[in-house]
Amino acid sequence: MKIGIVGGALQGMEAVYLSKKAGYETLVIDRREEAPALSLADEAVVGDVEKERHVTEALTECDAILPANENMEALVAVDWIAEQAGVPLLFDLDAYRISESKLRSNELLQRLGVPMPRKWPSCRFPVVVKPSTGSGSTEVTIARNETEVERLVLHLRGEGLEPVVEEYVNGPNISIEVIGDGSIFTPYIVTDVILANDYDCKRVYSPWRGMAQAADELARYATLTARALGLRGIMDMEAIVLDGHPQVLEIDARIPSQTPAAILHSHGINLVEEMVKGLVHGRMGTPTVPQPRVAVYEHVVAKGDTLHACGEGEFAHVRHPRIVEGLFGADEAITDHRPGMDGWTATLMMASPNWAALRERRKECLRRIMDENHLSRYLDLFPEGYGDPLTGLSDDE
Ligand SMILES: Nc1ncnc2c1ncn2[C@@H]1O[C@H](COP(=O)(O)OP(=O)(O)O)[C@@H](O)[C@H]1O
Ligand SMILES: [Mg+2]
Repeated sequence: MKIGIVGGALQGMEAVYLSKKAGYETLVIDRREEAPALSLADEAVVGDVEKERHVTEALTECDAILPANENMEALVAVDWIAEQAGVPLLFDLDAYRISESKLRSNELLQRLGVPMPRKWPSCRFPVVVKPSTGSGSTEVTIARNETEVERLVLHLRGEGLEPVVEEYVNGPNISIEVIGDGSIFTPYIVTDVILANDYDCKRVYSPWRGMAQAADELARYATLTARALGLRGIMDMEAIVLDGHPQVLEIDARIPSQTPAAILHSHGINLVEEMVKGLVHGRMGTPTVPQPRVAVYEHVVAKGDTLHACGEGEFAHVRHPRIVEGLFGADEAITDHRPGMDGWTATLMMASPNWAALRERRKECLRRIMDENHLSRYLDLFPEGYGDPLTGLSDDE
């Protein structure tokens, strides 16, 4: 099985990592030569999927195509290439067109009766002002009064972006993936998304340790939404848990980054393999996991004397990363680390039989990184009111 992955940034790294773990041959295409996923692939092609023939030809030779980018023109081009060449596409362009816009997807979610944060002005302050399109928490800001809302709305409009203004809800951030083949829709594992101080995701725990009832509710909403979309591919749904119930923030019908790798380490479920099973081999189904473990997936940057827990946005700058087993005691890392180097980055992944064991393992791994790289400070910043359920608010013990 050869997978053609289009896009070599964060989603591309996830896609190539999972494809390799599934034992597939990988091709990654990106027009930027420095795109980090290129160095992880068996075959790297630099070029533009919209214009360049050698790119189209390379894709035509694959057994499945997995778009891993959020550029509409590129996605339309890949959809067309896959259709022309008769290569299975692990992506649903129609569903993506809805999920790409929070205004459009909120309309759908509302119609389906999925609970969401109340929209301004029929809610109290503080509110969150964010662009309808875009991802990775770009331009997500809190406003505490009407003047601030107006200023932020004007700012977004000035950038050519449509604003969404909704109640700020404070609680655990959780996420789930669903895979569909157009008629069967399988929800997977609910994970716990830990935010950096800029609301970017810096760490994922799998599974979420919270109430089973809230997790089941999210799985139900995600399945309902996938069915309404007639999803043929993967989507994720993200929510904040308020008073024991998920309030849905958004859906995204494309391979996400971070959460699938966490699920692979905790449950051994590979979402790229699941897509291939369902969409290429026509074998949709729910995998059985007799003995799930618990896992953490997180990004760190070492610079000067400091080890910094960072969001994936910062990790996107990693240069020529490679997959390393056992780095500093983690199960696996995706990293550009070399001994003696300053300014390196790593995504650390590790799993344990239970949370107490994971907590110790993670602590030991961070301690080893600090010791072996002569770092004296560990910085792990959260948005106001949030923390890390595994370690408590400050992580300096
Ligand atoms: N209504 C809200 N209340 C609290 N936090 C929010 C709200 N909306 C967004 N956020 C925070 O901002 C992050 C990014 O918002 P999201 O709607 O997921 O947009 P993006 O498409 O950028 O991921 C979320 O993960 C969440 O932490
Ligand atoms: Mg989001």
